[in-house]
Formats: sequence, structure tokens, C-alpha cells
Amino acid sequence: MKSLEKIDKNNIPQHIAIIMDGNGRWAKKQGQERLYGHSIGVESVRESLNACISMGVKYLTLYTFSTENWNRPKEEVDGIMNLLVQTISNELELLKENEIGLLVIGDEEGLPDSCREELQEAKDVLSGYNKLYIVLALNYSARWEIKQAIKNISEKVKAGSIDSNAITDELVSSELCTKNIPDPELIIRTSGEHRISNFLLWQLAYSELYFTEVLWPDFKSEDLYLAVLDYQSRERRFGQTSEQII
Ligand code: IPE
Ligand code: IPE
Ligand code: MG
Repeated sequence: MKSLEKIDKNNIPQHIAIIMDGNGRWAKKQGQERLYGHSIGVESVRESLNACISMGVKYLTLYTFSTENWNRPKEEVDGIMNLLVQTISNELELLKENEIGLLVIGDEEGLPDSCREELQEAKDVLSGYNKLYIVLALNYSARWEIKQAIKNISEKVKAGSIDSNAITDELVSSELCTKNIPDPELIIRTSGEHRISNFLLWQLAYSELYFTEVLWPDFKSEDLYLAVLDYQSRERRFGQTSEQII
């Protein structure tokens, strides 16, 4: 039986978030420049999107560029930004045909104009589509996001529009880039690194974490199905005991 057929359709994560890692090492293994790894990684994004459509996942968040990634060599940063613009432009029709919506989390203002313009166009073209939302984490870091939320909430408290006692989990969540997006049930990181690298720190409070040795450009639909099968084998207790959940 294929992995997709083994998946329980009644226990599909609504939201899967992926730390797409290992492009550079994959390219090096092929004797190629790092950018080649990033460009082949686009194929893995297509595979993951198709797998999410097959399973009925509602949100797929992709950690695409962190605030710390600006510290890479200029040539690589420029290459990634160009690849992003090209990929969105190339894939737009296909996304539209599949009725996929596009959301962006992160500091969009800090992106190059060409990226912002391409993203805006794509958001306009795809607005109203909701079969699946692809959420691009771009110029994103969780600490940046949480700092923004703290600033906004403290302004409101100072202005007297909310009382500090009214600061609930829901209020904090509503000040994050992911407001209106459910927390991810499953977070996947490829490439064998076992860390979070400043990704969705608030939202992952009860996410299931899945680490695989597979480098991102080698990550196929089948790998995503395996991750979901692993997720389905876990007992999510949210602080309770096993007996309470059954
Ligand atoms: C992930 O692959 C892509 C981005 C962070 C933009 P890397 O470029 O980090 O690849 P490795 O980790 O160096 O192999
Ligand atoms: C995390 O990968 C960021 C993205 C996948 C966009 P990194 O490769 O930047 O993370 P570190 O530096 O290994 O922690
Ligand atoms: Mg990396």
C-alpha cells in the first residue's frame, strides 16, 4: 500500500509548516554552486503543494528567507530574491488553476521592490482562492514578529484602548503575522538539523516536530506523506494524561 493510501483522512493536519533546509549542501554534493540547490528546491515546493492538495491540508507555510539570511554573501541573497520573483511569475497561472491563495508573513517592507511588486501582483491574482493557502515566510523571524506584537499591544495599553489584564493568548496571536491562520499541527525540518532557527516560536507551542535527514531538493511528495503518517502515529496530549484523551 502506498503511503498516501495509509493516511487517515480524518486526522489530516490543517496546517503544515516546513523549514526547507539543505539546498546549499545538496548543491555542494553535486559539485555545483549553492544557488543551483535553491533553484532545484523549487521542484520540492511543487511536490509539497501537490501532496498537500491530495491530502486536503489547508495551510502550507514555507520558511523561505529568514531575517538572518541577509547575512549571507550578497551574490547568494540576490540570487534567492531573483529566484523568488521568477518562480512566483512562472507558477502564478498554475496556482490560479488550482485555486491556491497566497499569504506572506514577515517584514515585507524590507524586501527588494521587485519582490514586493511580484508578491502584490500574485496576491491580487489569487485573492479569493482558498482551496489551500501557501504561506511564504519571507524576511521572517519569530523574534521580530513577537517584538512587533509587543510594541502594538503596549501602544494600545498606553492609549487606554485595552487593559493589561486583557492580554490573553488570543490577543497576542491576533497581533502576529499569522492572525487568522491556525497554529501548525506539524512542523517539518529537512537536512538533519535539529533546531527551529527563529521560526514560529509562539505558534509552535504544541506543534509536533518532525526532522528528516533528507535535503530539501530531494524532498518529494512521498516524504511529506511519511511525515504526516508519523504525525498520525503520535498522541497529542496538550498537558493531559493518556487516559483523559481516549
Ligand atoms: C535553505 O537551504 C534555504 C535558505 C535558508 C534560504 P540552505 O541554503 O540553508 O542550505 P544549507 O543549510 O547551507 O545546506
Ligand atoms: C532556516 O535555515 C531558514 C530557512 C529555511 C529560510 P538556515 O539554514 O538559515 O538556518 P541555520 O542558520 O542553519 O540555523
Ligand atoms: Mg541551512
